[in-house]
Amino acid sequence: MHLTPLVAGLVALAAVGNATPCPPKGIKPIKQIELGPRPYFLVNNMTDGPLKKKLQECTEKPMKPSKWSIGHRGGAPLQFPEHSLESNLAGARMGAGVLECDVAFTKDRELVCRHSQCDLHTTTNIVAIPELNAKCTQPFKAAAGGKAASAKCCTSDITLKEFKSLCAKMDGFNASATNAKDYLAGTPNWRTDLYATCGTVLEHKEHIALVEGLGLQHTPELKAPEVKMPFEGTYTQEQYAQQFIDNYKKARVPASRVFAQSFDYRDVLFWLKAEPAFGKTAILLDESGDTPETYPQAVKNLTAYHAAGVRTVAPPLYYLVETGKDGKIVPSAYAKRAAELGLRVITWSLERSGPLAAVHRNGDYYYTSIRDVVKKDGDMYELLDVLYRGAKVAGLFSDWSATATFYANCVGVGV
Ligand SMILES: *[C@@H]1O[C@H](CO)[C@@H](O)[C@H](O)[C@H]1NC(C)=O
Ligand SMILES: *[C@@H]1O[C@H](CO)[C@@H](O)[C@H](O)[C@H]1NC(C)=O
Ligand SMILES: *[C@@H]1O[C@H](CO)[C@@H](O)[C@H](O)[C@H]1NC(C)=O
Repeated sequence: MHLTPLVAGLVALAAVGNATPCPPKGIKPIKQIELGPRPYFLVNNMTDGPLKKKLQECTEKPMKPSKWSIGHRGGAPLQFPEHSLESNLAGARMGAGVLECDVAFTKDRELVCRHSQCDLHTTTNIVAIPELNAKCTQPFKAAAGGKAASAKCCTSDITLKEFKSLCAKMDGFNASATNAKDYLAGTPNWRTDLYATCGTVLEHKEHIALVEGLGLQHTPELKAPEVKMPFEGTYTQEQYAQQFIDNYKKARVPASRVFAQSFDYRDVLFWLKAEPAFGKTAILLDESGDTPETYPQAVKNLTAYHAAGVRTVAPPLYYLVETGKDGKIVPSAYAKRAAELGLRVITWSLERSGPLAAVHRNGDYYYTSIRDVVKKDGDMYELLDVLYRGAKVAGLFSDWSATATFYANCVGVGV
């Protein structure tokens, strides 16, 4: 096994099990925050006006990490393999003040960072490793007779040790692949494989130690199991939700620096009861209002969430804004109701959609309510400004942390 000193530090740290993690070797808080050219490219592309002028005035400012800038899947999956060590380091370098680990469990019931329990076939090289491919829920099947290539590989198919032997890659697959190696292709052309040179996968405990070493804050998400619970008859949802919190307690990370997330209301209610300190800072992710038919009920639901003790809700970007009469982006009914109730609002996810001209042409989930008025990349900052000033969002998940960090520094939020 080839290990850089940094990874060796993380591994050594994981090996000590229950002990308090000390910062992994070589990991220290980042002082020189670097945003790269993208925020400035976006500002240049804005329509002239007061917001563009204000943002232009910030272009020579030194940048600091901001808690408003939340590193989605590590903070840099626009260009780095998601949830890898490298994505987290890039997110931290770009000033994300909070880093995300989506959590799923392995066959031996250890917790690892993956966006879903069963995405190993599109986010790692598992199908190209014959002995691990054989353990997949559905091993790789070549494209044939007009049927697309397919596979389904879950973290619960393999042990932690096996998981750690994988390389993280850009999310995607080649539907016409006739062999496993070809199946690994499929990165959209506006992403890149430049850093997909065997990304380092992380277990949850390593992610905690990494974030502690960087001096940042934690936002883990308990991912819905895709296998029947209790897993193998004995591992219950509550044990899983408790183990997830226990990893922070063992690492002596106070609940005030942990923002646990789940789409499952029952998980958040469980934390409020079993771990009230972590329940109080928890984030209820909300995708219950995706259609015009379900949206009004999603707004109504906010009252009950608040009454039950939920303090933070997190809907997708487009629930919080709509297109106003004059063709401007304005806050939505959801945003207004959350503000009335005093709920903190976090939203997801910026920089997942590629060039906005194509979003305007073809539509895109995250821009559903404002597709008509979003036409060019510079419009991203018009959206951010309405999210911050109008919808009062307290944090924003981004696939490219620099974009959110720049705005946060310019308006002075979370820095
Ligand atoms: C912004 O980029 C688009 C291409 O998406 C281009 O057509 C437009 O002219 C640019 N606008 C500005 C102000 O640079
Ligand atoms: C996808 O798979 C096919 C068949 O295996 C192969 O010919 C093609 O080059 C692959 N595409 C990419 C982008 O690698
Ligand atoms: C929230 O609203 C949806 C409809 O959009 C409904 O199906 C769901 O049961 C509600 N959830 C709760 C917890 O009230």
